[in-house]
Amino acid sequence: MAKSVKEIGNILGDRSSPNYEDIFELTYTIACLKKALRMNPPVQSLRRECAHNTIVFGNTLLFKKKIELLTAGLHRDPEQWDQGIYVDVNVFNPDRHLLGAPPRHPNAMVPFGFGVRGCIGMQFALLEAKTFVYGIEFLRHLNT
Ligand code: HEM
Repeated sequence: MAKSVKEIGNILGDRSSPNYEDIFELTYTIACLKKALRMNPPVQSLRRECAHNTIVFGNTLLFKKKIELLTAGLHRDPEQWDQGIYVDVNVFNPDRHLLGAPPRHPNAMVPFGFGVRGCIGMQFALLEAKTFVYGIEFLRHLNT
């Protein structure tokens, strides 16, 4: 949190409120938001129906079979999130989401779902979250 507050302070300088461009400068704060969505996905599971017969990890899934994907489990898969670098998938470490982190599967993290039925409000929700974080920092200034 301290690092994020510092980042916001650096971007704002002596201005009292952020503008639209400022939102995109929040590299570390965005990594923190992603981290929070990875560890505590608000939507705990996604549902899909098999479009054809397929085999997943040796299990045969038949056409039309309903599948429930537990996002919280997927988001803590050591193969995707430990990667031999970060040690513990349960530790809050925003560095996993910074530029330069090792590549991982595009669907290793799906707090907003994926594909054609993915969340249409994702960009709005993320913008709102970033604006909210700026708001906290602004209030902190008012209180000191
Ligand atoms: C942190 C905030 C939010 C989270 C975590 C979230 C997450 C999700 C998830 C997981 C799905 C299912 C996607 C799938 O099955 O692949 C979904 C669907 C959807 N979301 Fe969100 N959502 C958020 C905010 C919003 C907002 C702000 C809006 C609207 C302004 C919105 C509108 C929708 C709609 C309409 C769908 C259904 C899409 C469809 O079935 O085609 N969501 N959301």
